[in-house]
Amino acid sequence: MKSNIILLLLFVTFGANADDQRVSLPGNYKESFVEYLSLDRVQNHDQFIRLFANDTAMAGKNTKGEFLNGSVLVAEVYSVQKNEDGTVKKSVLNRRIKDKLLLIAIMEKQANFAKTSTSKINTGNWDFGAYKPNGKAASKDLDACRACHTPLLESDFVFSGEHLP
Ligand code: HEC
Repeated sequence: MKSNIILLLLFVTFGANADDQRVSLPGNYKESFVEYLSLDRVQNHDQFIRLFANDTAMAGKNTKGEFLNGSVLVAEVYSVQKNEDGTVKKSVLNRRIKDKLLLIAIMEKQANFAKTSTSKINTGNWDFGAYKPNGKAASKDLDACRACHTPLLESDFVFSGEHLP
C-alpha cells in the first residue's frame, strides 16, 4: 500500500513533467514581438490575457489561411482585481482590471511538429508550452491545451487569428 502511494507520488512528480516540453519560452518576446490583442478571457470569467506575435506570425498567412512555419504566439495570462465580496471588479469601461501574471502560454509552429508529436490530439504543426512568470516550466498537461484548440481546424488551431494579418 505504502509503496503504491510512493509510486503514485513519483508519477505525479515526474509523469507530468513539462521540463522537456519542446516549445521554449522566447525570452525576448516583450521587446521583439508585437502585442496584437489584450482582452478579458473569453472562457475564464476571472482572467485577462495579453497576446504577442513574432515577426513570422505577423508576416501574414499562406493562401490556405494557415500561419507560416516559425510562427510563435505568446499569451500572458493574468488574474484580475476582485471586489471585497469576491466578484470581479470592472473598470469604467466595463472591463476587467489585470492583476498578477499567472502563466505564459505559448504556441509555436514548425514544419516537423505534426510528424514528431507524441500526442494523439491533432493541432497540426503547432505545439504548446507553458511557463511560470519566473521562466521555469509550469508543468501543465499540454494535452489539455491541445484538446481545447483542436476543434479550430478552420482557423489553423488559433482562436485570435482574425486579429493577426
Ligand atoms: C478551455 C479552452 C482552452 C485551453 C484549455 C487552453 N486554451 Fe489557449 N486559448 C483559448 C482561447 C479561448 C483563447 C483566446 C483568448 C482567450 O480568450 O483566452 C486562447 C488563446 C491562446 C493563445 C493565443 C493564440 C490563439 O489561439 O488565439 C495561445 C498561445 C494559447 N491559447 C496557448 C495555450 C496553452 C499553452 C494552453 C495550455 C497550457 C492553452 N492555450 C489552453 C482556449 C484555451
